[in-house]
Amino acid sequence: MLKAAIIGASGYTGFELMRLSVQHPHVELTSVSSEKFAGKKVGEVFPSLHDKIKIDFKSISEKKGVSKADFVFVALPHKEAMSVVPQLIKLGKKVIDLSADFRFNDPAIYENWYQKHTAPELLQDAVYGLSELYREKIKNAQLVANPGCYPTAVILALAPLIKNDLIDLNNIIADAKSGVSGAGRSVVLSSLFAEVNEGVKAYKVAKHQHSPEMEQELSLIAQKNVSLLFTPHLVPMNRGILATIYTTMSKEMSEDEVLNLYKNFYQNDIFVRICPLGTFPSTNQVKGSNYCDISITIDSRTNRLVVVSVIDNLLKGGSGQAVQNMNIMAGFNEELGINQPALFP
Ligand SMILES: NC(=O)c1ccc[n+]([C@@H]2O[C@H](COP(=O)([O-])OP(=O)(O)OC[C@H]3O[C@@H](n4cnc5c(N)ncnc54)[C@H](OP(=O)(O)O)[C@@H]3O)[C@@H](O)[C@H]2O)c1
Repeated sequence: MLKAAIIGASGYTGFELMRLSVQHPHVELTSVSSEKFAGKKVGEVFPSLHDKIKIDFKSISEKKGVSKADFVFVALPHKEAMSVVPQLIKLGKKVIDLSADFRFNDPAIYENWYQKHTAPELLQDAVYGLSELYREKIKNAQLVANPGCYPTAVILALAPLIKNDLIDLNNIIADAKSGVSGAGRSVVLSSLFAEVNEGVKAYKVAKHQHSPEMEQELSLIAQKNVSLLFTPHLVPMNRGILATIYTTMSKEMSEDEVLNLYKNFYQNDIFVRICPLGTFPSTNQVKGSNYCDISITIDSRTNRLVVVSVIDNLLKGGSGQAVQNMNIMAGFNEELGINQPALFP
């Protein structure tokens, strides 16, 4: 059995990591951390897991459970993550960090959008954990920086077009909607039921911290600079991301040709599904699953190619992809523990 610890297990992604771990045939949890619930049984805080996980939540300062683990998932807010990851790396642990702290190649870009980086020396060896694009590097990584939820949906949607040089790289618009769990479980006014229910709002327009992450990764695929206008929206649902991406084609192609290009690009990727022409994915068809479903449409009237991409922000956009990366690092079948279909309704 692979021994795993979760630091920040009481949050939304932490809960999903626990849920996925107990259904994984080769994973045993040695430790789950929470400051707020330290000393309480997992089942007291999350009754749905009471017969599945018998250990107590422990404070991060209690290191015994973590020291027994081979793998550590870090599901803390950014800034907190980089205060624990260097020590884990020194101890020789394999680490999958869900925060933004190790996603950037250039610390200056991180510092521009987040805060001062306290462990920049780890950035050059950290592997960006978009499983489908970096599988080979992830296999041998010690530190995997799991991607952000919006970037996962947007990069998977654009990678085939950019890799094949089919669109204008300075004319991409990503308009995305997220459920409220994307903001985490801490109590903030803007996430309260009455603030979110029955309304939709744009937020952080042209200022969202996932913009530079998407641009970094899309530029690496293109081997030249990509700029992207990104507008996130908050919608009254618990989970899910739907990204609608508008691009301008630089080459004439039929919808069938573009569809085949996507199918070929993702032919070995079980978790990326390309929708038949004329069908458009809903967040409901990926809810609770690790899938990313993508549809493409050409509007020949405006010479635009529209890509729609959906994921569950907590699964493919977070903990599902983290387990997928753990499977890759451990040499397991990539689907283990995460191949369940979506919930319905
Ligand atoms: N939510 C998503 O859809 C999503 C998707 C992809 C990536 N992510 C990233 O994953 C990370 C976790 O996100 P989340 O949504 O799961 O957050 P969350 O629900 O707010 O949970 C945060 C966790 O971190 C712990 N924590 C918070 N501040 C701490 C501190 N100062 N010291 C020690 N522990 C602390 C909390 O434990 P306590 O019990 O002590 O409060 C909790 O377990 C974030 O970096 C986020 O950006 C989130």
